[in-house]
Amino acid sequence: MYKEQAPTGFKPDFLWGGATAANQLEGGWNLDGKGLTTAEVVKKATDRKVFSMSDVSKESIKEAIADKSDTNYPKRRGVDFYHHYKEDIALFAEMGFKSYRMSIAWPRIFPNGDDAEPNEKGLAFYDDVFDELAKYDIEPVVTLSHYEMPLHLTQKQNGWASRSTIDDFLKYTETVFKRYRDKVHYWLTFNEINSTTFGFIGSGSVDTDLSTTDEKLQLRYQALHHQFVASALAVKQGHEINSEFEIGSMLARTQTYPATPNPEDVRAAQDADQANLFYTDVQVRGEYPEYMNRFFNEHYIVLQMAPDDEQILREGKVDFLSFSYYMSTVTSNQPAGDDSVGNMTFGEKNPYLETSDWGWQIDPIGLRISLNTLWDRYRVPLFIVENGLGAVDQISEDGQIHDQYRIDYLRKHIEQMAEAVKDGVDLMGYTMWGPIDIISASTSEMSKRYGFIYVDQDDEGNGTLKRLKKDSFNWYKKVIASNGIDLN
Ligand code: BG6
Repeated sequence: MYKEQAPTGFKPDFLWGGATAANQLEGGWNLDGKGLTTAEVVKKATDRKVFSMSDVSKESIKEAIADKSDTNYPKRRGVDFYHHYKEDIALFAEMGFKSYRMSIAWPRIFPNGDDAEPNEKGLAFYDDVFDELAKYDIEPVVTLSHYEMPLHLTQKQNGWASRSTIDDFLKYTETVFKRYRDKVHYWLTFNEINSTTFGFIGSGSVDTDLSTTDEKLQLRYQALHHQFVASALAVKQGHEINSEFEIGSMLARTQTYPATPNPEDVRAAQDADQANLFYTDVQVRGEYPEYMNRFFNEHYIVLQMAPDDEQILREGKVDFLSFSYYMSTVTSNQPAGDDSVGNMTFGEKNPYLETSDWGWQIDPIGLRISLNTLWDRYRVPLFIVENGLGAVDQISEDGQIHDQYRIDYLRKHIEQMAEAVKDGVDLMGYTMWGPIDIISASTSEMSKRYGFIYVDQDDEGNGTLKRLKKDSFNWYKKVIASNGIDLN
């Protein structure tokens, strides 16, 4: 729509804040009736640059269940938010957070996923967390499933590969929507829903026993279909419980560039982009895009759909689109190598970009490009719910952590966000990833830190768990206080 004046800055009610996930943060993995979650049987990685979150087999699950310690499974201990939440939320409030993205651990509510009744102690824990946030006027943004589900559902029905998981999920969502009806306004259904096609981490389905790639793809895309249906039904259900709820999808967005202007490379990049946007095409537009038929045919994938699934997808479109953004990648028609450039991101190295210590290509302008692409394509409000730098922090001789590299990373991304807003993009908010140091999703390391708040814990779980403000803490406080104007 034509407006005489282009927007000059972030909206007055812009949702500044930070984002975490229960399985990387909470700890308390076996307390107060909580069941085991899929994330808690993923062993810590042996190589920090290799994606191993889906290397889970029936045998490795048995081994994990027999192991009652958290030594090899750091997500069981997190950083003990379970007992530190008041202190942590007070620190978020001190930075001026307007919002806090967090997830509910589904097995804290339904320990096995198919229990007749929810676990009251689990429900009460999140009541306490939401009440604490309310004290400081911090708006919770709640992810219903962030890389986890009750492990029992994997053992019983192979997770999302089974259609009956939809009913289990809807029972859980109905319970939390009703319980927190007046405490939570913003919800996200599945974290980085594209992770499901990378296997266990997103699907909760074991497929390491399948021999061919196409067999694995068949299972993963079927699991994904069940999540699409579950997400759409949850959107409908949520709106029936509280018509004011705003419920969004969540995509791991990767900006892709062609390696050269050769049309072959440009086409390869377009293909990669479609593979990324397929998920939001379904969740925002409410239908499968045509280009996926070709992919399904080429990989012999036949999706089992119920007669009313298409209608469910149409009726369960999300209210807004949220996404994580960490990096960009390069696609070539004739790849020199298929380097991993991030979690679930592959491609060529970009000679114009620097990388993080984990090889993630840092590209703030790519964020502006992605924001424009997503806005042009979908015309629904956008919400950046993850962005940040994983780095090794050292405590200096003065006892402080001078994380100028983190400030630089975030500043450059926020500058580009501001440009996108001037371009006309409707942006609701920004919750940077990991305002407090937590366990890394991909490697389960503690030494890959994102936070403004340092936590005294090492990779082996030694430490006092003491919280310490880094230099970036006061920097972000200024950013929020000035609504994104003071970035120095
Ligand atoms: C996103 C996930 O992919 O990236 C988070 O939603 C994760 O759970 C974040 O922590 C950063 O990845 P990592 O592997 O560095 O923790």
